[in-house]
Amino acid sequence: MREGLDTFNEELTIPKNTTNTFVLMLSQIVKRCSPLPSSSKIMILGAGFSGNHIAAVLKSLGNSVLCSRRNLEKPGADFVFDSEAPSLPPKNILNEVTHLLSCIPPTKDGEDPVLNKLNAHLKSMPLEWVGYLSTTGVYGNYEGDWVKETDPVKPKQTRSKNRLACEQSWQASELPVQILRLPGIYGPGRSALQNIQSGKSKIIEKPGQVFSRIHVDDIAGAIIYLMNLATKGERPSIVNIADNIPTSSMEIISYAASLLECSLPPIESFEIASKTMSPMALSFWEENRRVSNQLLCKYLGYELIHPDYKSGLKDCLIQEQSSRMIN
Ligand SMILES: NC(=O)c1ccc[n+]([C@@H]2O[C@H](COP(=O)([O-])OP(=O)(O)OC[C@H]3O[C@@H](n4cnc5c(N)ncnc54)[C@H](OP(=O)(O)O)[C@@H]3O)[C@@H](O)[C@H]2O)c1
Repeated sequence: MREGLDTFNEELTIPKNTTNTFVLMLSQIVKRCSPLPSSSKIMILGAGFSGNHIAAVLKSLGNSVLCSRRNLEKPGADFVFDSEAPSLPPKNILNEVTHLLSCIPPTKDGEDPVLNKLNAHLKSMPLEWVGYLSTTGVYGNYEGDWVKETDPVKPKQTRSKNRLACEQSWQASELPVQILRLPGIYGPGRSALQNIQSGKSKIIEKPGQVFSRIHVDDIAGAIIYLMNLATKGERPSIVNIADNIPTSSMEIISYAASLLECSLPPIESFEIASKTMSPMALSFWEENRRVSNQLLCKYLGYELIHPDYKSGLKDCLIQEQSSRMIN
């Protein structure tokens, strides 16, 4: 626990460890989001790439947020939560939480780390909304078809079966849970731009294969939008958060190369490339689906900040370039 932080901080402005570029980027997202009611106390468990970003936006909106990581030295950590360690978040903090977001993946045994460790506390917390970051891997292979929240889940990979089991445990918890299904997450510092810059990328050609994705700004924007909707009584139990245009890996890499003004990496057929792929990479290529965002964007009214990979990758490039100029 950070020194002097014995409960939620009411005087929040720009989060610690925040660069000028990040402040600029945050101000763009903040303009599009509404703060939660001032009485809200938000806890984000597992503030890694997505959780830290959501926390930064909420803090910039003036909301009270506390974040866990497994080590207090990691950026954005207010307190330690490690499901494999004996200690728990302090009770006085848990007792105030109105909004809880878990960004923590299942354990190696396929169990949910938060439900496992905090189940006894969750029921006594004044929770108005609980978000669980899941994956669209639970849908399994749809042979390139569109898939929406009401379609059957048919996970094939063990990790996706585990994920579905965690979703089901959250849904059985009788808490005000909303499952947020995410496809591939990208954002500044974590995108096809880094693949190109590594010099090791190649274009893998598999006709008909697409991947859905979401920029981390839209994870933050959509979740804050959904939290606000829940305060008005609208809380669909499962929501996909994906952009508008599922795209082939070839299009993404080619566009990233054009933004960086680099020549295209070599093209390899999937048949050849698959021979040297890791089992994890191979498992992603074995499934093909287009994740629908109709519930989020059409019926619930969320407007994407980055509707497609072109807008998202351009943003990543701008953020990364300005960050280099400042640092
Ligand atoms: N990456 C993707 O493309 C993708 C796509 C769909 C869904 N997802 C899922 O969406 C969620 C957020 O993704 P992300 O990429 O933002 O994740 P991330 O950066 O890897 O963050 C995961 C967080 O979980 C924490 N954590 C992991 N194991 C833990 C444990 N046993 N006890 C306590 N904390 C633990 C990590 O702690 P530390 O900060 O200490 O490391 C980290 O803060 C994850 O559940 C991820 O599996 C990811």
